[in-house]
Amino acid sequence: MSGTLPPVVRTVASLRAEVAAWRREGLRVGLVPTMGALHHGHLSLVNAIAEKADRIVVSIFVNPTQFGPTEDLDKYPRQEEADRKALSTTPASLVFAPTVAEMYPNGFASTVSVKGISDAFEGALRPGHFDGVATVVSKLLLQCLPDVAIFGEKDFQQLAVIRRFVADLDMPVEIMGGTLIREPDGLAASSRNAYLDPAKRTIAGRFNVILKQLVQAVEAGAPLRDAEKRAADALMAAGFEAVDYVSVVDPASLELLDTHDRAARVLAVARLGGVRLLDNMAIAAP
Ligand code: PAF
Repeated sequence: MSGTLPPVVRTVASLRAEVAAWRREGLRVGLVPTMGALHHGHLSLVNAIAEKADRIVVSIFVNPTQFGPTEDLDKYPRQEEADRKALSTTPASLVFAPTVAEMYPNGFASTVSVKGISDAFEGALRPGHFDGVATVVSKLLLQCLPDVAIFGEKDFQQLAVIRRFVADLDMPVEIMGGTLIREPDGLAASSRNAYLDPAKRTIAGRFNVILKQLVQAVEAGAPLRDAEKRAADALMAAGFEAVDYVSVVDPASLELLDTHDRAARVLAVARLGGVRLLDNMAIAAP
């Protein structure tokens, strides 16, 4: 932890020059892709990757191609100086903060698209979202060529999609999953939590409690569809405005499970105050 602000580069050429210099010294390089508005969940990713990398690049890029036409691209928080200050408490070596024109120059025409694992849940509700994520993460990995990159488990489907295309496209990088970080009341840390007013923020704290109850019920033998429905009803009773899904899935393929016959994961999204809150939890094998 240096306490000094990490330097910023804005072009692929300058990122590559920095990384090449580290390579000449035989150092291992880690990449933490973010869209900025860093919170302690992001900082935990920087600290976790430090175990596997000598130098750490944190990218800050609000990627327009992963936002739908009615989503919050314009209001998504942008606070680069505050982000650099937050990173000064971590082992981050460099910030890569490209412009949209640097990432998507005129004539840009390619998309990385991952079938199957992208189709349900977030993929079904946010058409094109995972194409945007897979394309920008592919670019970031190829621009930086890190030994290791880390993504938070809060976006569990995103992590599964990234693992899929990195394996399919033979990208020579290790993908680490970073443990989901929670606020003191258990709400999953997210840049979008800042959109919640105090009353909604209090309700949001019920989300993880209700999911924990679902996990306990499933582990005690409750039928999966009953447990999912009870959790969705409890969320609505707690004051959430809508439940997009509460689903118990296979943790690797993300296929909906009919019975609790293996270790599983509950994936859930509920809406509150116009914000979509994502959460997920592990369910132990029977
Ligand atoms: O999880 C995020 O913040 C983004 O989806 C990512 C991986 C940085 C790609 O823009």
